[in-house]
Amino acid sequence: MGSGVGVLMVALQHYEQLVGRLASSGQGHVLRFFDELSAQERSGLVAQLESIDFEQLALLCRQGAGGIDWAAAARSAAPPKAVRLSERVGGGNGVWDAAAARQRGVESLERGQVGVILVAGGQGSRLGFEHPKGLFSIGPISNASLLQIHCEKVLALARRYGASVPLYMMTSPVTHEEQLEYLRHHKNFGLPAEDVFLFCQGTMPAVDAQTGKLLMSTKGSLFLSPDGHGGTVAALASSGAIDDMRRRGIEHLFYFQVDNPLTPIGNAEFVGYHLLAESELTSMAVAKQTPQDKLGVFATIEGKTQVIEYSDLPEDVAAERDEAGSLKFWAGSIAVHLFGVAFLERMLSHKDALPFHIARKKVPFLNAEGELVNAREPNALKFERFIFDLLPHARNALVVEYAEDEVFAPLKNAPGAERDTAEYVRRFMVGQHRRWLEQAGTIVSSDARVEISPLWALDAEGVAARHDRPARIEQAVYLRG
Ligand code: UD1
Repeated sequence: MGSGVGVLMVALQHYEQLVGRLASSGQGHVLRFFDELSAQERSGLVAQLESIDFEQLALLCRQGAGGIDWAAAARSAAPPKAVRLSERVGGGNGVWDAAAARQRGVESLERGQVGVILVAGGQGSRLGFEHPKGLFSIGPISNASLLQIHCEKVLALARRYGASVPLYMMTSPVTHEEQLEYLRHHKNFGLPAEDVFLFCQGTMPAVDAQTGKLLMSTKGSLFLSPDGHGGTVAALASSGAIDDMRRRGIEHLFYFQVDNPLTPIGNAEFVGYHLLAESELTSMAVAKQTPQDKLGVFATIEGKTQVIEYSDLPEDVAAERDEAGSLKFWAGSIAVHLFGVAFLERMLSHKDALPFHIARKKVPFLNAEGELVNAREPNALKFERFIFDLLPHARNALVVEYAEDEVFAPLKNAPGAERDTAEYVRRFMVGQHRRWLEQAGTIVSSDARVEISPLWALDAEGVAARHDRPARIEQAVYLRG
C-alpha cells in the first residue's frame, strides 16, 4: 500500500469516528453541508469539531443558564479579608506595615521575579471600535494607544528595577493578527523582542438555547467565541508561557486588562502585601461609589474569597450598608491580580477549578437551508470562564484597596455614556498626571492639560525624582521619555 493511500485510510477512519461521535451526541447536523465544502474548509471544520469535548458540552447544556445561585450566595456573604486604603496610608494595619510591604515588593522586582500578563482577547464592541481595544488612541495629548501606554509602563518598570520584566499578552483568534502586526510595526514600543510573548486564547462553541445543538456561522465553520479570560490559565500552559516563566525564574504574575491605562503595573507595595501575606492570589480593589457601579465585588462566601459579578449581585444586597453607613460590599474588582506562578501550575492539574459561566446571547446562525439568520431575541448559550474564579482555590487570598483615581479608569463605553468613555478616561489621566506634578512642587495652571509618558515618569515617585521637572506649566504639555 502506497503511503498516500495509507494517509487517506487513516483520514477516513478518523472521519468515520467523528461522524459516529457527532451522531451519538445529537450534533450530526454540523456536517449537513460537508459535501459542498472545499478540502481546506472540510479539514477546518473537522479540526474545530475535534477540539470539542461533547460530554462537557452536553453537561453544560443540561445545566442551562442556571448553575450557581449567586443571589443566595450573596445573601450569606461577608466583606472580604482586605488591607484598606486608610490603613495603607496610615502606615499599616497592625498586621502588615505599608513600608515593609513596599520594600519586599522592591526586592522581588529587583530579583526579576515579577512578570506581567495582559489580557487583550475581547473586542471593543461596546465601545463601537472596529479594532482590538488596545489599538485605541487614548493619550489625551500624545494620542498614544492603550497598548503603547502598557508597553511603556513595563519598560519603565524594568528600567527602574534593573531587571527584565517579560510581558505575556493574551489575544484571541479575532484580535491576534492585528495586535501582533501592530506591535511588530511599532517595535513593541521599545520592549526587547525576547521580553514580549504573545499567545492566543482558546474558543468555545455556542449552542441553540432550546435544543443544545451547535450553531454554525458558515457552512464550513461553527460559531466560536473566546472562552473568557479564565482561558488564560490553559493558554499560558499550552503556549509555553509557563515554561518560559520557569526558565526565567518568574514567580509572580501581575495580571491586568487592556482597557485600563491607569493600571499600576507591577506596583511594589501591592507585590509586597502578596509576599508578606504568603498569598497565592492577591487582588486590587477600589471602594465602590454607588451600589450600581458595574464592578464585580470581592466577598467572603463560606470562608473563601470570591468575586460576585455585578450582574449576579441582587440590587438590595448591593445597597446594604454597615453601621458606619458604608457599602457592605465595598470592594469593587478592577480586574488587577497577582498570581503565584506555582499556584497557576497547581490549578492546571485541577480540571474543574474554573467553572463555565453560561450566558444567553443573540447569535447569528445558519439555518437548515444554509441561510444566515439574525436572532432578534437571545437564542443561544455561550460559555466563558472567569479568571477570578481561581480565588477560592488560593491559599491566603488577599484584597488590597487603592484609590480609584490612582488606579482605575477603564475604556468601555461609546461617547454619551455616563462613565468609562474615552473622554472620561482622558480626564482621569490628566487629573492624575497633574496631581503627581503638583505633589512634587510644579505649579500647573488651572486650564493646562498635562500628560506624562511612563518613560518620563512611571508614577508620583518617578515625577518627584525628576531633576528636570518643570517649575511651572501654563499650557498643554506632553512630558515624553
Ligand atoms: C470586567 C469584570 C468585572 C470587573 C471589571 C473591571 C468580568 C466577567 N468582569 O467586567 O468583574 O469589575 O472588568 O473593569 O471579567 N477578555 C479576554 N478574553 C475573553 C473575554 C475578555 O481577553 O474571552 C478580556 C478583555 O479583552 C478585557 C477584559 O477581559 O480586557 C474584560 O472583559 P469585559 O467583557 O470588558 O469585562 P467587564 O464587563 O468590563
